[in-house]
Amino acid sequence: MSKNNEIAISCQNVWKVFGNRPKAVWDLLRKGATRQEIIEQTGQVIAVKDVSFDIRQNEIFVIMGLSGSGKSTLLRCINRLIEPNQGKILIYGADITRMNNSELKKLRRHQLSMVFQHFGLLPNRSVLENVAFGLEIRGESKSERQAKAMEALELVELQGWGNSRLHELSGGMQQRVGLARSLVVDSDILLMDEPFSALDPLIRRQLQDEFIKLRAAVKKTVVFVTHDLYEALKLGDRIAIMKDGEIVQCGSPQDIVSQPSDDYVSEFVKDVPKAKILSAESIMQEPEVVVWRRYDIEVAIREMTAKKAQVAFITDSRGELKGTVTMEQAIEALRQGLGKLEEIAQKEFPWTSPESPLEASLHYVAEGDIPVAVLDERRHLLGMITRKALIGAMKPDKPNSEARFVVEAGINHNEKIAAGGQ
Ligand SMILES: Nc1ncnc2c1ncn2[C@@H]1O[C@H](COP(=O)(O)OP(=O)(O)OP(=O)(O)O)[C@@H](O)[C@H]1O
Ligand SMILES: [Mg+2]
Repeated sequence: MSKNNEIAISCQNVWKVFGNRPKAVWDLLRKGATRQEIIEQTGQVIAVKDVSFDIRQNEIFVIMGLSGSGKSTLLRCINRLIEPNQGKILIYGADITRMNNSELKKLRRHQLSMVFQHFGLLPNRSVLENVAFGLEIRGESKSERQAKAMEALELVELQGWGNSRLHELSGGMQQRVGLARSLVVDSDILLMDEPFSALDPLIRRQLQDEFIKLRAAVKKTVVFVTHDLYEALKLGDRIAIMKDGEIVQCGSPQDIVSQPSDDYVSEFVKDVPKAKILSAESIMQEPEVVVWRRYDIEVAIREMTAKKAQVAFITDSRGELKGTVTMEQAIEALRQGLGKLEEIAQKEFPWTSPESPLEASLHYVAEGDIPVAVLDERRHLLGMITRKALIGAMKPDKPNSEARFVVEAGINHNEKIAAGGQ
């Protein structure tokens, strides 16, 4: 069995061209033609263009992008429901592009399942039978199937419903049955193509929460396609953003929001409530003045003056933060004849943990101008967040007329394709 940081899926230079003359595509590409020129000149569509990434075991990897950007095609290449033209796709190291039919069938049955929008539920079977169905295909014994299916139902809080027919449940409950089945009994790796997109927003949100909860309980590797950025940010450990068949950026939700790689990605993330997504760690700076608590007050004053700092952080010899002092407080203390920093360290100071969202530090900004200390679990000082950095990080990106143009062009283009296909 595979270990935790093992690579579950590795895509290496994968290409998929739709049309019967892919050779014409390679020739034109060599001459530097764009995807659009190739469509116009040859009618061949490059749906996936030289895509490479690795997905670790138990990771949730989200593929996001506008309609027509190649998400579904890429997902279906991973289990060869669509045959890629070029490239390698390794599942736990085995190249599936080289597998014969029986090897492929075995892989899909045991390691790699595709979850469809309605989870492929059978309305006339009982809830329990539906959940256990995947295991039946895999040849597990009846008692094993029953036990696993019961456990799955419990996880989605549907215990007691096992003997009901599926059609007796509400739409949302049926979706939970489907989710339980895929996450609990299907194989190690799940490929999910917009599984929640047909749902109304409230049920969709509930299912996303359910998904997070279940996934934490059972651990699976999931490749999840969505065109909803909020879903991507909520569910993804990493997000790959596709445009015209290529991955234009791949990174954690924080990376994507804080450092969009180009105008296309910026346009996606410009309205994201950054205070909820970005962590303290992502914007913290090196503290300007850190002084040992046994030092004289003058040392802090000298350093704050030299660095034009508002505050000095006072630590003990192990680096634990003991308090802060502002320039005003230090000068006042000197006037009163006090000597050492530990005598004047303010024990109540704003602080946060590195992984907390910026949202948690916002009220400090309203209260005063002292930078927020970022402390690890031993209260060691890792960095500081200034008011300026906090406000700067939360500002929506400047509207970029070029980016908007790119996105609109993408939408129009895909509408054209959709209309042409009818
Ligand atoms: N069977 C096919 N034959 C020809 N072209 C196809 C086929 N399937 C997809 N395409 C084209 O490949 C491109 C990528 O399509 P794909 O379905 O992967 O996009 P998507 O990102 O999943 O879009 P959506 O968000 O609308 O589901 C599109 O330009 C599409 O028209
Ligand atoms: Mg799709």
